[in-house]
Amino acid sequence: MKMFVLLQQLFFNRIGIVSSIVVITWLFWKYRTSLYVISKTWRRDLRGLRRGVRALCKIVLYERNCMSIPKVFQKVARNKNNKVAIYFEDEIWTFQRLEKFSNRIANYFIRKGYQKGDTVALLLENRPEYVGIWLGLSKIGVITALINTNLVSKPLYHCISVGKVKGLIFGSDFTNVVNDISSDLQNVQLFKYDKLISEELSNESEASPDAHIAQTTPKDTILYIYTSGTTGLPKAANIKNSRMYFTATGINSFLELTDNDVFYNSLPLYHSSGGMLVIGQCVCFGVTVELRRKFSASNFWSDCNKHDSTVASYIGEICRYILAAHENKPPVKHNVQKIFGNGLKKDIWNDFVEKFNVPQVYEFYGSTEGNCNLINLDNKFGSIGFIPNFMNFIITVTLIKCDEETKEPMRNADGFCVECKADEPGILIGKINKKISIHHFDGYVNSKETSGKILRNVFKTGDSYFNSGDLMVKDSLGYVYFKDRTGDTYRWKGENVATTEIEYQISGIIGPKDVVVYGVKVPKTEGRAGMIAIADPTNSINRSKLASELKAQLPSYAVPLFLRVMDSFPMTGTFKVKKNELQNDGFDINIIVDPLYMYDSKKVDYIPMKDVYNDIIEGNLRL
Ligand SMILES: *[C@@H]1O[C@H](CO)[C@@H](O)[C@H](O)[C@H]1NC(C)=O
Ligand SMILES: *[C@@H]1O[C@H](CO)[C@@H](O)[C@H](O)[C@H]1NC(C)=O
Repeated sequence: MKMFVLLQQLFFNRIGIVSSIVVITWLFWKYRTSLYVISKTWRRDLRGLRRGVRALCKIVLYERNCMSIPKVFQKVARNKNNKVAIYFEDEIWTFQRLEKFSNRIANYFIRKGYQKGDTVALLLENRPEYVGIWLGLSKIGVITALINTNLVSKPLYHCISVGKVKGLIFGSDFTNVVNDISSDLQNVQLFKYDKLISEELSNESEASPDAHIAQTTPKDTILYIYTSGTTGLPKAANIKNSRMYFTATGINSFLELTDNDVFYNSLPLYHSSGGMLVIGQCVCFGVTVELRRKFSASNFWSDCNKHDSTVASYIGEICRYILAAHENKPPVKHNVQKIFGNGLKKDIWNDFVEKFNVPQVYEFYGSTEGNCNLINLDNKFGSIGFIPNFMNFIITVTLIKCDEETKEPMRNADGFCVECKADEPGILIGKINKKISIHHFDGYVNSKETSGKILRNVFKTGDSYFNSGDLMVKDSLGYVYFKDRTGDTYRWKGENVATTEIEYQISGIIGPKDVVVYGVKVPKTEGRAGMIAIADPTNSINRSKLASELKAQLPSYAVPLFLRVMDSFPMTGTFKVKKNELQNDGFDINIIVDPLYMYDSKKVDYIPMKDVYNDIIEGNLRL
């Protein structure tokens, strides 16, 4: 009898064990993909969640206390007092000095009759007073329009007029530029920066205009920052106090900045990266900033060493220039632990990180005005950030399918947009929630432009999303990559050509030289033919090698038809190549003095353009 019980137990236990194993195996099998994804991403997602929650707590407090940037700065300045706020050339600006300077600005403009809601435009190179001026104006609720220092004539006037500007402060370097448009500035009060600083401010009171500061709120606009205007004229984005605080808080939490950090910034202060995200660390969190008047590739690391900077900002093609400026030079020693910015390209990412021994790259994505923000927290090569797979309840950004050329969202039979699956390209959109200000889209000063960026009835009737217009892909782990920027594809022989991919291939062939690829119109043909522009003052690349390797690596329609060898590229103030300008030059040998070539598919070489130009124009060549 005992024997029987024993056997029975053994039997059932065996069955129990075996069946549990079967069930567990089956579960593993069924959810194997999700388990794999979780095992690969949980660290990243938890890190993001932790830092995100920390930022959110600060933001909630800020909103509840009806704070504003001047109120936050007042606290910071009292706390930090003699700590350095800004290092600049030989100047040292403590928080106290910045506080007093900005108070003088505020009191001066009160005396001049400026009131809450008025706008003053600022046209000045990077310097500590730049920050002091807009900070001072913000204390009395006056909006500062930050003007791109590269603008002249019509676009400059456009920026001044869309902001309905009452006053303009300009540096002496811009006297001619301002004189050129002076007939349009009849109703604008002009302030010469040098005179303002040396004479008019000198006996102004340093007392804090507390009564005015008390009236500033999170919802007030503090700055106008203009979009770069690669297509059409620049748009003025409305930066509210709350937006500036949110973005600064986000960066502060995600980069885990501390009181001991020194942030090196050589980016222009009229742009959101340098002017809002980096300066926000100083103004809102008391982080010391080392400021440079103008970016310099060769001085980048030696500058960082002047005050032992621990963090540095980059943008656009800056990293490529730094790399090029240090080619064939010994490794540099520095204490920069983190670099933060956007635009680090795959073709130089690893070279840059290895050559300069940079532990952490925080590549981020975010438009000045939009509500779609992403950041790369774990050094993932080439990625601009991630969208966690298992946190749908808090994630408000997503990719939707679109026509790859026009970037028009595709709608299904019910009229709704379709979310992309892993590895499917789509445009990034961010849900607009009027109740939560982080998810709000504050729009442009011009309301027509605002409505153009909003998509309605996206996943259900009545919802609305901010359309970033940027084409991206998300892999199965949730990492997001740029597909390409707006306008960066062209169509040739009925096929779409993505310029960034071709640029990447070319860099692999010719090494670290500046390369851009774009499409140009050719008479009597459809679409646009590809053109490579290379910055190579000595014109030393091996063109037949380039041609034969491109032929081997690319489908025939994607091999660029033209080649232009230049000394250097025309650049925007934010270090992006002015592709539009290059595109407008086309391949016209009467306009372009640089060496030009055409791809000859029989010889597999780039041959001089002058031999074939007339045949191309007359349509005698089969391209
Ligand atoms: C500063 O000096 C000017 C004259 O130089 C005077 O008009 C102005 O009232 C003074 N401001 C203050 C605050 O004393
Ligand atoms: C250019 O590259 C080709 C191989 O593609 C090689 O045969 C030729 O010698 C190279 N020319 C020069 C000048 O290096």
